[in-house]
Amino acid sequence: MSQTLPFETLACEIEDQIAVVTLNRPQVLNALNGQVFTDLKEIFAQLEDDPAVRVILLTGAGEKAFAAGADINELAGIGCSLGQDLSHRGQGVFRQIETCGKPVIALINGYALGGGCELALACTLRLASSSAEFGQPEVRLGLIPGYGGTQRLPRLIGSSAALKLLLTGQRIDASEALRLRLVDEVVEPAELMARGKELARSILAVAPLAVSACIQAVYEGADRGLESALRLESTIFGHLCDTKDKIEGTRAFLEKRPPQWTGS
Ligand code: CAA
Repeated sequence: MSQTLPFETLACEIEDQIAVVTLNRPQVLNALNGQVFTDLKEIFAQLEDDPAVRVILLTGAGEKAFAAGADINELAGIGCSLGQDLSHRGQGVFRQIETCGKPVIALINGYALGGGCELALACTLRLASSSAEFGQPEVRLGLIPGYGGTQRLPRLIGSSAALKLLLTGQRIDASEALRLRLVDEVVEPAELMARGKELARSILAVAPLAVSACIQAVYEGADRGLESALRLESTIFGHLCDTKDKIEGTRAFLEKRPPQWTGS
């Protein structure tokens, strides 16, 4: 059964444990204004708490854009203090998405520029349509990325490749984004949603607590030195050894039958 949640700037549909969140301001290429951040914060809080949702797909309405960045109308008139507030708020919402404990797959259906590229970077995985374009054009506006782009982009693709994008503000196409490992896969535009759902279903087929544990280990470990990160891995591994799903998963393998997950 599918459920639709109404928001001013987003659409959200939940079906078969997969939530599809769609940025819905196609007339401005899904530019991210204050209301989008309010709506993203609310919907991700709901999805995080909803046990019926295990994977989240995030995309943009229309055929042209995932999101063309922060809404430049809101940037035009602000000074230092409001600029810092705007950056903090956006960073906070993107961090909430990154740490919601469920895989969030960006389906990048067109322009992913500025804050739009940063939003994709905050997702767990990125699938792009072959028509997508990426870039951090903030320097062309006299700015730098303010929603995490100067930090996540170099962590994902290396500082040299990141600086090339950051310093020139140039756009790259989907195949170049794939070459740089900025995205994980590129598919034809008509196949993007189907491929996203297929990937979501392959995650739904495995043990739920192990999925969130992988995300936790990778993200928390990335901020630590290797020794500390390895201790974190052992701690999480040990906790999973106490779960019903680990008992079921190992037993099912030995009994040569499919496992029945309970998420406990
Ligand atoms: N903010 C507000 N409105 C935007 C927008 C944005 N980021 N991007 C596009 N729009 C609006 C346009 O103004 C236009 O509105 P009108 O029809 O009312 O004129 C509408 O969306 C369609 O856009 P275009 O006519 O420009 O479409 P195009 O196909 O000719 O060009 C584009 C597409 C190359 C993406 C171009 O729109 C563009 O360069 N957009 C801005 C991209 C950008 O600079 N993003 C970074 C923003 S800064 C940021 O994100 C900072 C941060 O990290 C905090």
